[in-house]
Amino acid sequence: MNKNNTLDTLEIQIQDILDIMTLKEKVGQLTMIELSRLMTTYNEMKPDKTEKGALDEKYLQEVIVDYGIGSILSGGNGAPLNSTVEAWTNTINKIQEWTLKSRLKIPILYGIDGVHGFDLAFGATIYPHNIGIAAARNLQLIEEYAKLTAEELNSVGITWNFAPVLDVARDPRWGRTYETFGEDPYLTSEMGKAFVLGLQENNKVAACGKHYVGYGSSQKGKDRGPIDISLRTLWEICLPPFKAAIESGLDTIMATSAEVNGTPVHASKTLLTDILRDKLKFNGVVISDWMDIEKLHVYHKTAIDISHAIKQAYSAGIDVSTVPFELSQAEQLVKLVEQGEIPMNIIDESVKRVLRLKFKLGLFNERFKASDKAQMIVGSKKSRDLAEALATESMTLLKNKNHLLPLSKEIKSVLIVGPSANSLSQLCGGWTMTWRGGNEDQLTTGKTVLDAIKEKVSPNTEVTFIEDSSNIIEIKSTAEKVEVCIAIVGEEPYAEGSGDRRNLNLSKDQLELLEILHDSQTPVVMVLVSGRPLTIKWESQNLPAILWAYLPGTEGGSAIANVLFGDHNPSGRLPITIPKDVYQLPLVYNTRINSKYEPLYPFGYGLSYTKFKYSHLDAPSEVKQGESINVSVKVKNIGNYDGDEIVELYISESYAPVTLPLKQLKGFKRVSLKQGEEKTVSFQIMPEQLCLVNDLEKIMVESRVIKIKIGDQSKQIILTTT
Ligand code: BGC
Repeated sequence: MNKNNTLDTLEIQIQDILDIMTLKEKVGQLTMIELSRLMTTYNEMKPDKTEKGALDEKYLQEVIVDYGIGSILSGGNGAPLNSTVEAWTNTINKIQEWTLKSRLKIPILYGIDGVHGFDLAFGATIYPHNIGIAAARNLQLIEEYAKLTAEELNSVGITWNFAPVLDVARDPRWGRTYETFGEDPYLTSEMGKAFVLGLQENNKVAACGKHYVGYGSSQKGKDRGPIDISLRTLWEICLPPFKAAIESGLDTIMATSAEVNGTPVHASKTLLTDILRDKLKFNGVVISDWMDIEKLHVYHKTAIDISHAIKQAYSAGIDVSTVPFELSQAEQLVKLVEQGEIPMNIIDESVKRVLRLKFKLGLFNERFKASDKAQMIVGSKKSRDLAEALATESMTLLKNKNHLLPLSKEIKSVLIVGPSANSLSQLCGGWTMTWRGGNEDQLTTGKTVLDAIKEKVSPNTEVTFIEDSSNIIEIKSTAEKVEVCIAIVGEEPYAEGSGDRRNLNLSKDQLELLEILHDSQTPVVMVLVSGRPLTIKWESQNLPAILWAYLPGTEGGSAIANVLFGDHNPSGRLPITIPKDVYQLPLVYNTRINSKYEPLYPFGYGLSYTKFKYSHLDAPSEVKQGESINVSVKVKNIGNYDGDEIVELYISESYAPVTLPLKQLKGFKRVSLKQGEEKTVSFQIMPEQLCLVNDLEKIMVESRVIKIKIGDQSKQIILTTT
């Protein structure tokens, strides 16, 4: 009763505000502007508004007071003039001060893309990108990481995080693959859920599931390219992570810039209202992506001018437009409502959603932050330890011939080479200090792989680092002399479409470098620092040890050294398929039953220094549809190292009324096992995990036989309808 009372009081409070709002003020709440629009350097003639200045009072008056804008964001390049924690706090405080000068004094929502921590703040901890987090498969750690990220962001006044990315990456040529949790909808759902629960736990920061929907399924992985998918793919692959996040209380959603089946999502009532609101029961705020209402006119061309574009988007179900510079869009929206082109009740509902969120986040009670407190929180030891743990657990060992790894800390000599060996920005990737990342001097805290290895080995070990990869003669002669060569190779940082690729091989100079090392006859360990699978067929045939480190962040150097030198037994599992070559693409493990899956390394792959033995798979032999299934299995560590095993449960089916994926992940658990230790691991498969959907979105209930597989154990279960 109490709860209902407070709910009602809140709704009355919101209605009271709405009742006194002018149309312009309402539209202001539905508009998001970029920080640089408030800077002295803002100049409408410049298309690239990355030059930074201080906040300009003239613009604060215009944007915050005159237009009553409700949300401000810092885009990928949008940090304040000086991106220290102090500058962040002062900037947001100042904007909030100006909200108090506006008629209704409504606080602003401040959003950023904290896709791997507070990634636009000087001195912050940069966590691994999602692709690595998905490899770690540790739900508790991801939840803690999201919770800590919320604390870090909120300490300076940020209340909105445009994360998690819930897109399922179906083609690694896509430049945003590293922002995703990989190619599987179940894995993405579980990771996304844990992130949302952690981030929103204290009701201080709203999560934003993005990019609704289908974004990871574009043809050839082209960013913002057309997406043509069946309704089955939509319901089986693309929607489940959003559904799971919504069920976990997700506050906001960002629409994708792309078109799905011939309609841009920003103009799709079917996707934004019929499915999102009516079927998935989402009642939070839906925002546009960057400039995307305008793009209905200039890019997709479904609207003959911006005004028609605005009408299309608000009629389809967008609540807030990321304009992000032109205030004229707000004026046009006002006009459209005045002319009766957009009904007032649509606007009112959207405004209510925004106000509800501002109340939920406590913004009406507290809108200012203390920078000294923030400085204690951002980049703390606690966050660095957590980032290191996450990165360490993500490390995925692909090859380890003759147990080359782990290396002894007493090793006499090592040669370290490769462009990612002594660079923090390579470890962090895109969305780090700037949109594309790559700014070495802005990342002062953290350890490169080279530093971490030097710290790890004994004082007697001779560590030689040759920075210049073109210095072939020296590399060759040193490689011949040392005990082992470690090559830290990978990709340069990138973001979004700038990272789309046609091939996925290592650059020519890195390949040459690897060949020289290989020719030396000295064993070579290749550490791959990349946010997506690369085609490493030659490498996997010729080099004895390969470790995929993903984009592990500022603590990634330590994480890599932990695994190379045996302080941690590698336990990451591939969240995405590594293909042999690009001609196989798109190649995903849950491809349809009648296609081939012959990758270089399959989804779920990952070696350990120890060995695990599975036995006693226990499951009922017959289950009624609608009942959950309890499954258990025993796992024993029968090798010579303590270690974690990620136990994965897959199902497959021989016959069904629709063609099914070859196999599907339905459960996973990380368990720690000491040498000789055995544990029983249990799973519960929920009835909805066994639903079949046909091409008309209809859920089918059929009697059928499913096969459960955990490790090398399997069992058939008859699913009956009676
Ligand atoms: C990206 C979004 C991001 C937005 C704001 C867009 O380019 O697609 O993921 O949230 O910019 O920075």
